Amino acid sequence: MSDHPAATPEFWNERWAQDQLGFHEGAPNRQLVALWPGLRAGKRVLVPLCGKSHDLEWLAGQGHEVVGVELSPLACAAFFAERGLTPTVTSEGRYTRYRHGAVTILQGDIFDLEGEFDALWDRAALIALPAPVRVRYAKLVREHVRGAMLIIAIVYDQQKRDGPPFSVPDDEVRRLHPDATMVERETVDEERWRAIGKVENVAWQRLPQG
Ligand SMILES: C[S@@+](CC[C@H](N)C(=O)[O-])C[C@H]1O[C@@H](n2cnc3c(N)ncnc32)[C@H](O)[C@@H]1O
Repeated sequence: MSDHPAATPEFWNERWAQDQLGFHEGAPNRQLVALWPGLRAGKRVLVPLCGKSHDLEWLAGQGHEVVGVELSPLACAAFFAERGLTPTVTSEGRYTRYRHGAVTILQGDIFDLEGEFDALWDRAALIALPAPVRVRYAKLVREHVRGAMLIIAIVYDQQKRDGPPFSVPDDEVRRLHPDATMVERETVDEERWRAIGKVENVAWQRLPQG
């Protein structure tokens, strides 16, 4: 599989325990807000590796039934606590299920996923995983999502920095998702990336059929 630490639960649980959340954005993702409305996404949206992202709440506000999947119990609890919400917590297969309103977070491993979804929002999920795991992960989401997909990849010189986030170049996205098309490239202009050179957030979409 992969011997990179980012393939293990310990790596991510440690990040949450130490509050090392450089990936967490303070608001819904800009590319989600800009590009999602053009996607004609169906009702039930899968958000893999969701953390405590504001995107879950934003998608619910668009009328979707949102299902996040997240390894860290701290992240799941924090999403609801930060909104003053008390979720219903139950068991669902190998997952612990947190639910309030239209947002469900399944706490556990994405590779235990069951069920079907109409659409996929992937931000900092594909790119959080080492290369060999990305192949398994992309296959998994394709098996469970029948309709629209919006995926944000990051592209930079991997020689200059180790992931996560891992650079996922265009040719790799095309191999993993042959039916996706590139819709936007955004140059990242952030202090923590300055030393790396050119860094881009690249948005890919698959429209639902018909
Ligand atoms: C880079 S963060 C991104 C979180 C979120 N998508 C965001 O935009 O803020 C990746 C998240 O995936 C979770 N994670 C890593 N491996 C996982 C797995 N196998 N199954 C479920 N969650 C996982 C981590 O705990 C972490 O919260």
